[in-house]
Amino acid sequence: MSHPTILVTRKLPSSVEQRLSKSYDVRLNATDELMTAEQLVESAKGADGLLVSLTEKFSPEVIAALPDQVKIMATFSVGYDHINIPAAIDKGLIVTNTPDVLTDATAEIAFLLMLGAARGSTAGEKVLRDGEWGVWSPTGMLGLQLTGRRLGILGMGRIGQATAKRARAFGMEIHYHSRTQLTPEQEQGAIYHATAEELLAQSDVFSIHCASTDETRGFLNAERINLLPQDAIVVNSARGDIVDDDALIEALNSRRIWAAGLDVFLGEPAIDPRYHALENSFLLPHMGSATRETRDAMGHCAVDNLDAFFAGKTPPNVVS
Ligand code: DGY
Repeated sequence: MSHPTILVTRKLPSSVEQRLSKSYDVRLNATDELMTAEQLVESAKGADGLLVSLTEKFSPEVIAALPDQVKIMATFSVGYDHINIPAAIDKGLIVTNTPDVLTDATAEIAFLLMLGAARGSTAGEKVLRDGEWGVWSPTGMLGLQLTGRRLGILGMGRIGQATAKRARAFGMEIHYHSRTQLTPEQEQGAIYHATAEELLAQSDVFSIHCASTDETRGFLNAERINLLPQDAIVVNSARGDIVDDDALIEALNSRRIWAAGLDVFLGEPAIDPRYHALENSFLLPHMGSATRETRDAMGHCAVDNLDAFFAGKTPPNVVS
């Protein structure tokens, strides 16, 4: 019996590739080299489905150029801002994502960013690695403590709520803004703000957990940064384009804010080089979901979506 053909654009965890090989005529990417848009379209010829990642950009033009035989695109990510959804709908292409399975890993990285930024980890580590660690000093290397500080969460979805859960254990007061207010059971004492601007004014730590959309792109600009309390900390584990880099870098340079912890960047991996020199920025290269457990789970979730589709069922995680 012939199997559907799946083009896999990136190298995936081995248990996921093995599972795919059993049920599909699968085209794997053993070298993990990135494909250009032209290579992507060319490689998709003869494929019934694609298993893609956020490193491939599916603009309306690329989607229109895909062979009509391709009926489903399963992305190995919860975010799907790399796929133009209206164009996928026009093309009759089903798009699926991998929610839930990366919630804990991403909330953990948000905490790493928060702590790294609050405690001046970049400067501390630099002193040590440069061999310049002098004598211990009662007034040296002073950071800010999270205990008792107000955490403002923008986007109280699964990851926002998982971050709030961890923050409670740190003795933080939780504030949030989301498109919809949570139920009191879900809020667990978190304080809702009807606007993001009100939230900013109450956030000693401002942590971004919303999706990148037309509404949120460029959200954290100079005007909004100025609403934050003095010495606030900005954390971004969602998408880089939600932050206006010029404004954030200026606020870090001028010490208008205390620090930033960033895992995602506009134009990554070619991030704004001014971040490199800023000791009050704690930077990671988009590692939010990068645990062995989570990457396996993301892969299996993507394959569950393909399996359901090719069995004639509605995939569990359809976004279009
Ligand atoms: C996602 O899934 O959208 C993350 O950014 C990558 O893990």
